[in-house]
Amino acid sequence: MKGLSSKDKQNSDRVLPFAAEAVAESLLGWYALAGRELPWRQTRDPYRIWLSEIMLQQTTVAAVVGYYRRFLERFPKLSALAAAPLEEVIDLWAGLGYYARARNLHATARQLVAERGGEFPCSVDELLQLPGIGRSTAGAISALAFDLRAPILDGNVRRILCRLCALQELPRSSSADKKLWLWAEWLTPQHRVHDYTQAIMDLGALVCTPKNPRCEQCPLESLCLARSCKLVDLLPLKAPGKQVPLRRQLALLLVDRQRCLVQRRPATGLLGGLWEFPGLDAGEGAPLDAIRQYYAGLKTISAIRLLGQARHAYSHFRLKVDFYRVELDPRDGVAEEAEHWLPLDDLEQLPLHGAHKKLLPLIGA
Ligand code: ADE
Repeated sequence: MKGLSSKDKQNSDRVLPFAAEAVAESLLGWYALAGRELPWRQTRDPYRIWLSEIMLQQTTVAAVVGYYRRFLERFPKLSALAAAPLEEVIDLWAGLGYYARARNLHATARQLVAERGGEFPCSVDELLQLPGIGRSTAGAISALAFDLRAPILDGNVRRILCRLCALQELPRSSSADKKLWLWAEWLTPQHRVHDYTQAIMDLGALVCTPKNPRCEQCPLESLCLARSCKLVDLLPLKAPGKQVPLRRQLALLLVDRQRCLVQRRPATGLLGGLWEFPGLDAGEGAPLDAIRQYYAGLKTISAIRLLGQARHAYSHFRLKVDFYRVELDPRDGVAEEAEHWLPLDDLEQLPLHGAHKKLLPLIGA
């Protein structure tokens, strides 16, 4: 990490009425007593730390733990991940969301094996060159695996700093972003960077939570400017709500003799490489007509029934899926080529994307 310029230092000191060392000391003391034991905290292996940090981007610890264990069982080393076909990596990732992460993980493994003999770089600047690694993730890997003095600024740390420093600006504005990085860097201690980084992550997850923060339990309570100014509930400032569009889709359980049709999405694009039920966008007309029209000439439909609905949120839109069971007439025979007919009982094991995984409990309806 480049050191703070003397101007930066003066600015931080002038604006904030506490010493960086006081924050680190309080946090480390609290972490020794209240920090979580998480599977990636017993290691300094950069491969394992990188894997956990990528999985934890936009995703909760509770959702990640099982995936992390399964991934390491299958790919205990970077070289095993690099040698695997991309489809296998995507299948193991199914259900965790933000699938570009799985593709980037695989690309990074191949790049490191081809160009660096499988060794991870330790500096933020070099880590930033790898696919899927932004500034905060690079900082986390550098701090957690190599104990280098590198700041992080993930969502939790942003919230903590907005409150600690009573930042009354939209936290994603470029001016706020600059200040937050500056403070994150200033607060990161010279020593015990690994523990400090874990500690500030835990503070965001356990104490300085988005709603109902537990200020009475916070090791930074006496320093926190939002607390002394009674601004905790207002900070971080929220951007005016963006309308996220709703898309509607029909998904079809096409059944022929206790088998159903499933398909893999193209390798690139949204949810690339994941499995799903065939479907169509829900248009204006009646859904049953749309289904009959879509499959006209393909097979004879003997019955259609609505099984239920599921909703799923993506970052840029929400999806509402109507799930229909469509019985095909077995006398038509089935076109096997390029299509996958799976016994209904095997669906649980299929790496479906999240929205369609939510449809599985409806099948028994
Ligand atoms: N979120 C991002 N990285 C994390 C970590 N190492 N531990 C807990 N939560 C995290």
